[in-house]
Amino acid sequence: MSKATQSSAPASTYDPGSLPIGDKLRAIAIDGPVASGKGTIGRRLAQSLGFAYLDTGSLYRGLGAIAMEQGLDLKNENAISDLAARCSAQAFQRDDLRKEAVGEAASVVAAMPQARQALVAFQRRFAEAPPEGCRGVVLDGRDIGTVILPDAALKLFVTANEEARAMRRFQELQNRGDSATYARVLSDLKDRDERDRTRATAPLKPAEDAILLDTSEMDADQAFKRAFDLASQTFGA
Ligand code: CDP
Repeated sequence: MSKATQSSAPASTYDPGSLPIGDKLRAIAIDGPVASGKGTIGRRLAQSLGFAYLDTGSLYRGLGAIAMEQGLDLKNENAISDLAARCSAQAFQRDDLRKEAVGEAASVVAAMPQARQALVAFQRRFAEAPPEGCRGVVLDGRDIGTVILPDAALKLFVTANEEARAMRRFQELQNRGDSATYARVLSDLKDRDERDRTRATAPLKPAEDAILLDTSEMDADQAFKRAFDLASQTFGA
């Protein structure tokens, strides 16, 4: 795990200025359950603020996809952890990451403490030394505010009710030409949330100082605006 998987080039003239953010990291940690919209919010925040963006779910998805491709038993913790330690971040950049089966595999391997451990250093390095020209970072995932970046200056926990999230994911899959049904998407989403919430290591939960953003009744623009206002208050944009 050595190089950045992705980053958004700074696209604005946003100047962080000299406003203090105390001893906090110039970072936005976004966590939330399946299809809560955290990726869309994260990408747009990074773009607007000139921050780098890392979708940490893509690391777990990459690991799950490679494990499936190699025919590994997804329950074999030693084999999966070895794979995680051997893979470079580039290996996780694949075209099949957004498939439902890959999300499912990701959540199985993500419950393994040693596999997670192999990915921690990469995520922290990304935040502490963002790609050149970026003024901060946005990371989204499940444990960013609680485990990866407990010192992030802004933590958001993005959620929405299950039906709204399942409908968004269903539409996303349809747009990709995937034939999944809404009922299947809803049931997979419930299973994955349950697994992510109840695992012993780095479970999905809001950090104590996270701000809750319930987007059930919001469209993407409204959710982004609310997040951007919070970021502006934090970073002085
Ligand atoms: O986009 P979606 O909400 O469906 O999921 P994702 O963010 O791509 O994450 C896929 C899976 O990776 C999750 O269900 C988690 O099990 C795992 N994950 C994790 O454990 N920790 C993270 N920081 C990010 C993802």
